[in-house]
Amino acid sequence: MSSTDLFKYALVLLLPAAYFASRFLRSTTLPTSSASSAAADNPVKSIMQAPRDDLAPPKDDPFTLVQLKEFDGSDSSKPIYVSIKGTVFDVSAKADVYGSGKSYNIFAGKDGSKGLGMSSLKEEHAVSDYSELSDAERKVLDDWHAFFSKRYNVVGRVVDLPVPVKREREASSENPTPAPNPSSDL
Ligand code: HEM
Repeated sequence: MSSTDLFKYALVLLLPAAYFASRFLRSTTLPTSSASSAAADNPVKSIMQAPRDDLAPPKDDPFTLVQLKEFDGSDSSKPIYVSIKGTVFDVSAKADVYGSGKSYNIFAGKDGSKGLGMSSLKEEHAVSDYSELSDAERKVLDDWHAFFSKRYNVVGRVVDLPVPVKREREASSENPTPAPNPSSDL
């Protein structure tokens, strides 16, 4: 058998194996269900990084979406930030995945909540307006928020989220401002 034939046979055997390995990794690493996010917190069963117990107290520094762009990993002297639902996380410790040209750089220097909820790495989905996500996608997004909260320091919050997201937040607020009483003279 020539070395070219050998190479072809190796490809035929290896490609399906690689496909199933990637399917397996996906099912055990992405918070697409509560079961997988529970696995993500277990350092023994999961290949995801373990939660940290040395996180700094969260900061509340204000960021506009434009200011956030500075921290997209393109300047290695600056930290890398990822925002989820307006919470800004410092992910510099994982420059190997969020740095320039790396697999999850799409989420760096921005709020890509919609893409996280959709489990999408497409540029057009990596935007902060997640108001059109389904309930299941919102659950995935909330799982990512919980995942990041246990692993990365919070350095601030985005102050100019798009109007639909702001409206939703106000509508779901636990302590809504009472509606004015039309019969009152005050
Ligand atoms: C075949 C598809 C995929 C495979 C094999 C895969 C594999 C992985 C692996 C191995 C990690 C751990 C990386 C590390 O800790 O160094 C990871 C983390 C992650 N993946 Fe994926 N992934 C896939 C698709 C996706 C998609 C579509 C998204 C879009 C939301 C995504 C988002 C993430 C995020 C946000 C992390 C967390 C990184 C961190 O901060 O620790 N992945 N993935």
